Amino acid sequence: MKKKIVILPGDGIGKEVTAEGKKVLEVIAGKFDHEFEFDEALIGHEAIEATGNSLPEETLSKLKNCDAILFGAVGHPKYDNDPTLKVRPEQGLLRMRKELGLYANLRPIKLFDELLGASSIKPEILKGSDILFFRELTGDVYFGEKGRKDDGATAFDLMIYQRYEIERIAHKAFKAALTRKKKVTSVDKANVLESSRLWRETVQQIGKQYPEVQLEHLFVDSAAMKLIQSPRSFDVVVTGNLFGDILTDEASQIAGSMGMLASASIGDSVGLYEPIHGSAHDITGKGIANPLASILSVALMLDISFGMKDESEAVIKAVEQTLKEGYRTIDIADQSTSKEKTLKTQQMGNKVKEQLSGEKLLNPTALQTASFIASIS
Ligand code: IPM
Ligand code: MG
Repeated sequence: MKKKIVILPGDGIGKEVTAEGKKVLEVIAGKFDHEFEFDEALIGHEAIEATGNSLPEETLSKLKNCDAILFGAVGHPKYDNDPTLKVRPEQGLLRMRKELGLYANLRPIKLFDELLGASSIKPEILKGSDILFFRELTGDVYFGEKGRKDDGATAFDLMIYQRYEIERIAHKAFKAALTRKKKVTSVDKANVLESSRLWRETVQQIGKQYPEVQLEHLFVDSAAMKLIQSPRSFDVVVTGNLFGDILTDEASQIAGSMGMLASASIGDSVGLYEPIHGSAHDITGKGIANPLASILSVALMLDISFGMKDESEAVIKAVEQTLKEGYRTIDIADQSTSKEKTLKTQQMGNKVKEQLSGEKLLNPTALQTASFIASIS
C-alpha cells in the first residue's frame, strides 16, 4: 500500500521520539512491501520562532493532504512561566485538532507485564489492567468562549457541549466496548454541572442502542479515586475534554510510565498519532527520552488509519519482546536493570527495529497473540 505520512516533531523531546517512530515505519514498509512517503512540518514553539504562528498555513495544508500524522509534542517553559504571552505553542495543537475535526482521542492504557514493577501502584492491584479511554477532543472548556472582564480582574472559560458532540463520541465508545469486555464507564460531574447533565442524558440515550454493553456513570472525582483503587474494574471510559486530559495522565501510572502511552486522535478525516507525554524540556537533548510511546503510536496508526492489523501487531510484539529481554529506558528501569540494558532513545529504537527485522516475528502465531487495540471502526 502507498501512504503519505506527515511528521510533526514539534518541541522538546518530540523530535527525538518521532525519529524512532519513523524508523519503525521504514522497517514496516520494507518488511511488508508498502510504500510510505514522509514529509515534515512545523508546529508549536518551533513554528512560532520560524514564522510567528504556532500552526502555519503551510503545515495545515500538508496535514489536510496526507493519510496520517505522526506528532511529537508542543510546549516550552518560556510560555509556562509567562501567562501573559498571547501567542502560545499549545494554540497550534488545539487549532489543529479543531481544523482537522479530530474529536475522538483514544488513549489505551495497557500494562505490559514486564513493567509491573515500574509503576508506583502495587502490582497485585495493577495486573491485568486494560482500559481504553475515549476523550472528547474538540469541545468543552478548551473551546468555549473565554476572556477577561472587570479590567482583567475576572476571567472565564465556558464549559459547553452540544448534543451531537456527545453522541458521536459515545457511539465510538460503545462500538469499541462491543469488541472488548462490553462495559462503558461514562465520567462527568452531573451533580454540579449542566453540561455534564446533558452529557449523562445523551450517553444514556445512545446506550439504549447497545443493549449488550453495560453502562455505568461515575462522577469525575470518584473516577479519579477508583482508577487507582481498582483499575481492573474499567473497560472503556468515555469522558469530556478536560476530565479526559486529567484522568489519562493519572491513568498513565497504570501503564508504568507516561513514556509508554500512545494515543490516536480521529474524527472526520485524517488520523493523528502521538504519545500522551509532553515536550519534557527537562530531558530534551539528553537522548534519554523513552521512544516507546511514539513507536506504539505508530502501531495505532497502522491499525486504525491504514487497516494494517498484522503490521500493527508486529510493532507491538517487537516492543513486548524488547521489554521481555530486559531493555529499558531510564524512566522504566528498576534496580534489576543492568547498566548495559539501560538504553538511550536511539538505542531503544534500534532494539525494536532489530526485533522487527528478526525472524522470530515472522512466525504467524506470534502475530496473533497481541491484543493491544480494540477495533473501533
Ligand atoms: C494533551 C496535552 C494537551 C491538552 C496540551 C499540551 C494542550 O496535555 O494532549 O493531553 O491539554 O490537551
Ligand atoms: Mg494532557
